[in-house]
Amino acid sequence: MLGNIELDIGCGRGTFIARIAREKPNTVFVGIDINEDNANASQERIARDCLSNAIIAHDEAENFITRNVQDDSLAAAHIYFPTPYVTGIKRTNILGSHLSGWLLTERFLLQLHTKCRAGAILRIVTDHRSYFKNIASSVASSSFVETPWVNPIRSSTFDNLVGTGLEKRQRSRGKYIYFLQAVA
Ligand SMILES: C[S@@+](CC[C@H](N)C(=O)[O-])C[C@H]1O[C@@H](n2cnc3c(N)ncnc32)[C@H](O)[C@@H]1O
Repeated sequence: MLGNIELDIGCGRGTFIARIAREKPNTVFVGIDINEDNANASQERIARDCLSNAIIAHDEAENFITRNVQDDSLAAAHIYFPTPYVTGIKRTNILGSHLSGWLLTERFLLQLHTKCRAGAILRIVTDHRSYFKNIASSVASSSFVETPWVNPIRSSTFDNLVGTGLEKRQRSRGKYIYFLQAVA
């Protein structure tokens, strides 16, 4: 893969990737999702919105990144509401049968960092407190450097942080949303 590339890791049904691809037509966005229904829904959304700068991969994120992303190539990685319940993924999806824990581990961040060019942005959002504590500690031990999340995305089309359906639902339930930005 060449050029200005950003990943949406666990892109769900494509809300975020479709919006950001429209916002930044000169950047290539790759959405990855292990769940076939979600990957298909994202793909349909990208096609419906005629977004030629976004593609969707139905795959497990770590596998996909290892096999397809060149070192020092990424401009950003977005990881929004990563699934905290791995058993759920294992149950519903054959691709996830080998998964043994959370995606966002020190090992994963080490690998992701090698794929990022200097200055690349990593953004993570979750409503899961213990996962977030674990993620924050993994980021602190990684080569990423935490920085303030300022002015998330300069557009009125993004509500709150990232504007996904999950973010809206959890906010409407009064859930606290944890977020983190780091730089490679
Ligand atoms: C809770 S949803 C969030 C979707 C979207 N990012 C959002 O904010 O609405 C988490 C998504 O991550 C996907 N996912 C979980 N683990 C994954 C993995 N290891 N590789 C790729 N996708 C994964 C799930 O299939 C699911 O679609």
